[in-house]
Amino acid sequence: MALYSEKVMDHFLHPRNVGVIEDANAIGEVGNAKCGDIMKMYLKIEDDIVQDVKFETFGCGSAIASSSMATEMIKGKPLSEVKNLTNKAVTEALDGLPAHKIHCSVLAEEAIQSALEDYRRRQENGESAKKQ
Ligand code: FES
Repeated sequence: MALYSEKVMDHFLHPRNVGVIEDANAIGEVGNAKCGDIMKMYLKIEDDIVQDVKFETFGCGSAIASSSMATEMIKGKPLSEVKNLTNKAVTEALDGLPAHKIHCSVLAEEAIQSALEDYRRRQENGESAKKQ
C-alpha cells in the first residue's frame, strides 16, 4: 500500500503558490522544534479577503504538500473562514497523511494563524488599513 496519497504526491511534486509576496500585509513563520522544519506564509489581505497567498517551506514532503494544499484552501476566502482552517481539514483534503506525519500539517495551520495574528497586529498599528 502506498504510504502517501496521490494528492500528497501531486502537491509535493507540483506545489502551488510557492514563493514570496513582496507587499504582503500578513506574514507568519513557524517551525517544528523536533524536526527543525520551517514554514513561512505570505498573505495579501484586502477587504477581509485573502486575495493572494504564497509560501516557502524548508521541510519534508508532507510539510510542502500541506502548505500547498492549505494555500489553495484559503486563497480567495474571507478571513472568517480562513481563521477556522484546521490541520485536520488540510489532511483530509490531501486524502490523509501517515500518522507520524500529521504534525507536518499542523505547521500549515500554525503558519496561517501566525499570519493572521501579524495582520491583526499591523491593523492595530495602523500599518495596513490605509483606506482612501
Ligand atoms: Fe518536519 Fe514534516 S518532518 S514538518
